[in-house]
Parts: sequence; structure tokens; C-alpha cells
Amino acid sequence: MKNSSPIIVALDFPSEAATMQLVEQLDPSLCRLKVGKELFTRCGPALVKRLVDKNFDVFLDLKYHDIPNTTAQACLAAAELGVWMLNVHALGGEKMMLAAKQVLADNFSDNESPLLIAVTWLTSSGQAELDALGIAATPQQMVSRLAAMSRNSGLDGVVCSAQEAAVLRQDMGEGFILVTPGIRLAGSQQDDQCRVVTPEKAIKDGASYLVIGRPITQATDPCKVLRTIISDIG
Ligand code: C5P
Repeated sequence: MKNSSPIIVALDFPSEAATMQLVEQLDPSLCRLKVGKELFTRCGPALVKRLVDKNFDVFLDLKYHDIPNTTAQACLAAAELGVWMLNVHALGGEKMMLAAKQVLADNFSDNESPLLIAVTWLTSSGQAELDALGIAATPQQMVSRLAAMSRNSGLDGVVCSAQEAAVLRQDMGEGFILVTPGIRLAGSQQDDQCRVVTPEKAIKDGASYLVIGRPITQATDPCKVLRTIISDIG
């Protein structure tokens, strides 16, 4: 069963048992799931397949960044797990992204291919990191440049901070997927996120999907929080 929920729950757990304890409480028609480097490195492809078999749309967030052939083959392996979306790092460059897109196009029909998106400039890196690399750009210019490169390489969208969503939506137009983390409900704990945005604002600014972790995963009633967010977004 495919769904239209814009919520992607970040499964930042250290074990399969902890992951499944949450997943059993979630409804695949209300959210999608994100598996990142920690969970994947601990539990591997078998857990991804288990989530896919439970009818969840899975975003495999492994941010591949390597030579074009290696990246493309890794993307193919990820796609063969049946994931809904996967990503590469835009800093790997146009040749790498084109190769990743091509391998999916060669092996999957349009409606069977997973979505392929790119990470632009990590929100944990700022001006100091660009300066240290000798890159003459602001983080916003870097994000816009890498997002344009991703689109020109045929990718479906990018991961970006919710603060960048409005500018990117304007620059990239409709139809380009913007996935935004750093989401917090009004009045809820910020945890270690610095610049947070509410679900309503992120959607209003043009985000296509919201990655939400702790506000849902640490809630006493995760499903209730999920339903509240969905109704707040409208
Ligand atoms: O718990 P929380 O809602 O902060 O989780 C956010 C998720 O989004 C985590 O999996 C985190 O790694 C991811 N993420 C992020 N900021 C980025 C990119 C990804 O918070 N710039």
C-alpha cells in the first residue's frame, strides 16, 4: 500500500529490537521510514527488507560518495532492496550523479525506480568549513549550486535544511523533491538541533517531505504525535 504522507520517521536506533518496537506502533499509511548509517551498519540489508516487507516506504539515507562506478553499483544494490528513496552526496559531482541515475534507469522502469536524491551541504558545516576548503561561496550559494547540479544530473531532489526550503523551492520550481530534517513541533524540545522549523512552516516553505526523529521516536504515544502532525499540516 503506497501512501501520500509527507512524514519520514528517522529510525535512529542502535538495534533491530529497539527499531521494531517503534515500527510495530506505526502505520505505513501514515508515515515513511528513514534508515541511516548507524542502523544500517548495525543491522544491514536484512532489516531494510523487513521494513519494506511490512509495507513501509523506506528512505535509505547512506549518502553514497565515491567514484562513479562504485556509487552507481551501490545505488543499484540499494534499489534492489526495494527502497522507496535513496541518496548520494552531491559533492561527489555530476559524473557520479549521472552514473547513479543511469544505473537506475537501466534496471528499473520509471514507476518502479526508487527516487534518487542528493545531500547538498550538510547543515552541520558552515562558512568556516567552506573557507577551510578554499571554496569561495556562502553555504546558501553552495547549497543552490549543488542543488542545481543535482537537478541537471537528473536527480529527483535534495535533502536541505528547512531554512533553505523557500529559496530552493523558488529556484528549482515545483516537482523537485525537498526533504527537510530539523523539524520540531511548536513548544517541543529542540534536542541538539539548533535552527528548528515547525512542520507547518516547512510545508508552507515548499518542503516535500519532513524527516522527523525524536519528537516521534521518543514520544510516549508515537502514533498520536504522528496524527497530530499530519492534522496540523492539513
Ligand atoms: O531526532 P531528529 O528529528 O533531530 O532527527 C533528525 C534526523 O535527520 C536524524 O536522522 C539526522 O541524522 C537527520 N539529519 C539532520 N540534519 C541534517 C541531515 C540529516 O538532522 N542536515
